[in-house]
Amino acid sequence: MKVSETLLICLICFQTTISKHPNVLFIIADDLRPSLGCYGSKEAHTPNIDSLATKSFLFKNAFAQQALCGPSRTSFLTSRRPDSLRTYDNWGNYWRASLGNFVTLPQHFKRNGYYAYSIGKVFHPGRLSNHTDDYPYSWSVEAFHPPTEKYSNAKVCSDKKGGLARNLICPVVPEYQPSGTLPDLESSQEAERFLRNWRGITDGRPFFLAVGFHKPHVPFKFPVEYLDFHPLENVSLPTNRWRPAGMPEVAWNPWNDVRKRDDIDKLKIPYPYGPMADETMREIKRAYYASVSYIDDMIGRILKHVDEETVVVLTGDHGWSIGEHGEFAKYSNFDIATKVPLLIHVPRLSNTEIIFNNPVELVDIFPTLVDLTQISQPLKKCAGDGAVLCTEGRSLVQSMVKILRNTKIASSSAFSQYPRPGLVPSRHPDSDQPKSKEIEIMGYSIRTKRYRYTEWVEFSTKSFRPDWNVTFGRELYDHLIDIQENDNIVDREAMGEIVRTLREKLMLGWRYI
Ligand SMILES: *[C@@H]1O[C@H](CO)[C@@H](O)[C@H](O)[C@H]1NC(C)=O
Ligand SMILES: *[C@@H]1O[C@H](CO)[C@@H](O)[C@H](O)[C@H]1NC(C)=O
Ligand SMILES: *[C@@H]1O[C@H](CO)[C@@H](O)[C@H](O)[C@H]1NC(C)=O
Repeated sequence: MKVSETLLICLICFQTTISKHPNVLFIIADDLRPSLGCYGSKEAHTPNIDSLATKSFLFKNAFAQQALCGPSRTSFLTSRRPDSLRTYDNWGNYWRASLGNFVTLPQHFKRNGYYAYSIGKVFHPGRLSNHTDDYPYSWSVEAFHPPTEKYSNAKVCSDKKGGLARNLICPVVPEYQPSGTLPDLESSQEAERFLRNWRGITDGRPFFLAVGFHKPHVPFKFPVEYLDFHPLENVSLPTNRWRPAGMPEVAWNPWNDVRKRDDIDKLKIPYPYGPMADETMREIKRAYYASVSYIDDMIGRILKHVDEETVVVLTGDHGWSIGEHGEFAKYSNFDIATKVPLLIHVPRLSNTEIIFNNPVELVDIFPTLVDLTQISQPLKKCAGDGAVLCTEGRSLVQSMVKILRNTKIASSSAFSQYPRPGLVPSRHPDSDQPKSKEIEIMGYSIRTKRYRYTEWVEFSTKSFRPDWNVTFGRELYDHLIDIQENDNIVDREAMGEIVRTLREKLMLGWRYI
């Protein structure tokens, strides 16, 4: 490691190594799983993200708190869990009106002298962020939304007969799209414009710029040329296209949204378990990877305008299954749905790629950025006393410095949850995305370095509490020998002690760490 020893003597010294209050670029890609070159994917074509990784902390085991956009984003932007926000769907209440005036990550930077600007999808739009992306609290000016966002689900994809459809797989020529462009092209242009002129715009203040890309979220609408990086014959199929042995049905998501798209709907795939034909699966995977290559290109364009003194964070709001377990989309507690990429470039500290293996959580980003930039005292842990500024995650900075020093770091766990309206996959109510009032069951999941333990328990939307005495399903996967989570070993006698220990930690939840 090419980091000088003096630089690592103490955390205090660390303050002086990065300029005081550096600029921060926070990049978030919708539904981006770690299928990236820097995460070992041979099929990904992501040269720009890989290049960022060569000078970043790369978190191999980073997890979202719920594998759905709205709850996940509200969670990491406030550093609070879905249970604390009572937010489990995309249509819920605005926390400031319903719960408390919680301070957000960008708001904290803004209050501490930063110019905070949002481009694209950062907060989940709509009610969850008061139809304003939480402006004026979180941002110095109104958020920028790409004008062509309004065609996100429009009938603009060519079908095989020369007509137009609302397809899942939707390669396009941007010039022939409505307004002649695409949302993420517009967002990257706006980010470039800002980064070229920021000194004039921020009036001497450092910036906190958040850029949220819409892809690779469905539909896979991307400039057709990105398919060239992914020849169909090179696209492999997942090796675990079946439900895990011993999986309780409640754990599984039937990908209702994917099925509704015109190209998939007409295939009349058996409900709820499929199977999806090989060719379709291959085309879906190709389109996802091409969408990721497109986003990588947009990220490259932005990073050209960013100097070495800028803290850069890159992440996704949750993962996405492309046929693994026979599933598509997110909507579950499996690793494939909860695991996200997380890169943090720290000026002068991460001169090389630094691998961080222990489990971390998206709620950790807020306290970590506060400590890295020294904009305020470290955030306090939330203690249930109604504090508006606190964290339910933890700052990773001490562990990051320890890794640079090659010192052992303490073990950690990541917690996720997913609600269900009933025991079996269903369309009505939609078991992939139950509305808050339809929730009957909550799946709580703990991921340690070695295991994932999940328990599906009764949940009351009156008290917003689980009843751990009423269990509908349990899962245990051993990542030492089963990284794909194919074999639920919860009922094996030999696992009894492990299950008891993990269950205790799970019931304590984030308070345990
Ligand atoms: C939400 O937006 C409405 C309409 O713009 C506004 O009147 C209201 O004050 C906002 N809520 C909060 C908590 O700021
Ligand atoms: C596709 O696979 C072939 C054979 O393995 C390889 O030579 C080629 O480089 C691959 N193409 C791309 C674009 O990855
Ligand atoms: C669950 O069971 C325990 C032990 O039998 C009991 O003390 C507790 O009150 C029960 N909780 C609920 C919510 O019924």
